[in-house]
Amino acid sequence: MSKIDRLKNQPNREDVLSYVWLLTERNDCFSTPQINVIQASLTRLRDENTDVHTFRYHVGNLTDYLLQAILKPKIKKIKVLTPLKKRTDGFDLETPVAIFFINRAGLTMGLSAARFLPYGTPIGEFDVHRDEKTLEGILENYNLPPDVSGRKILILDPMNATGGSIECVWKIIDQEYRQKRQQKFAGVYIANIISAPFGVFEVKKAIPEAEIFTVVLDDHLTRPGETKFPSGYIVPGLGDAGDRQFGEGRSELFLGAQKMLKSFVNFNSRSRIRLIKS
Ligand code: PRP
Ligand code: URA
Repeated sequence: MSKIDRLKNQPNREDVLSYVWLLTERNDCFSTPQINVIQASLTRLRDENTDVHTFRYHVGNLTDYLLQAILKPKIKKIKVLTPLKKRTDGFDLETPVAIFFINRAGLTMGLSAARFLPYGTPIGEFDVHRDEKTLEGILENYNLPPDVSGRKILILDPMNATGGSIECVWKIIDQEYRQKRQQKFAGVYIANIISAPFGVFEVKKAIPEAEIFTVVLDDHLTRPGETKFPSGYIVPGLGDAGDRQFGEGRSELFLGAQKMLKSFVNFNSRSRIRLIKS
């Protein structure tokens, strides 16, 4: 049965709470003022009057909090020479991670992660879109780092609605690294901003080893005719996360953000693992 047929019987929040870490309940990671900032950022994302620039700012902000909760980054001591030729004690993050993000909506999260994590952290991108008839994820392209062995695998996408997009990228990660290259992972982590119970249930079923982190767990996915949005949108949600960040399609804003990420990552290196269909 396709995902769209299964929308009739969606799990409730209570059914999936044990599968997911909710950021606003991580009192072991965050203080009350930080949780207040997280709640305020989330509200900016939900508000239909928030413009694309403010929206991307808050996606970046929440991504930083997600990374802190997931990785609890450790530091190591280093020394650096300042432009004033003073050798100074300092620190670097010591977090062996590989980041994978899903275009378009995951690009801002990818950019934030590239800034947050140590320079040179491997980053991979997937172009996936949802087939609106079946709600299955359709893979278009990917461009991946060659070696992620021994690293934590971190998949970034702001929305987990039916889980189809995450399942789609996970199949490729598993196939390219574990099956073809016998690389081992130090855990699999999923980072979302808003999730639906249906998506959490499906991702946990498809990737039992994954730890799923989300800022908030919403109520349900739209059923046919419920709102002006088609079936499979998160309620109350924030609408279409790609359009809310970049406007429609592969806009100038989207291409500009891609260019910025390319200043952190050499996506053109010959050693990259690629699939290019379009
Ligand atoms: C959005 C979002 C996720 C997907 C979630 O992408 O970024 O990738 O939907 O839905 P799912 O859990 O049902 O797969 P979309 O396909 O709308 O593309 P976009 O990022 O280009 O807007
Ligand atoms: N994709 C989005 O961007 N929003 C949703 O609510 C569901 C899928």
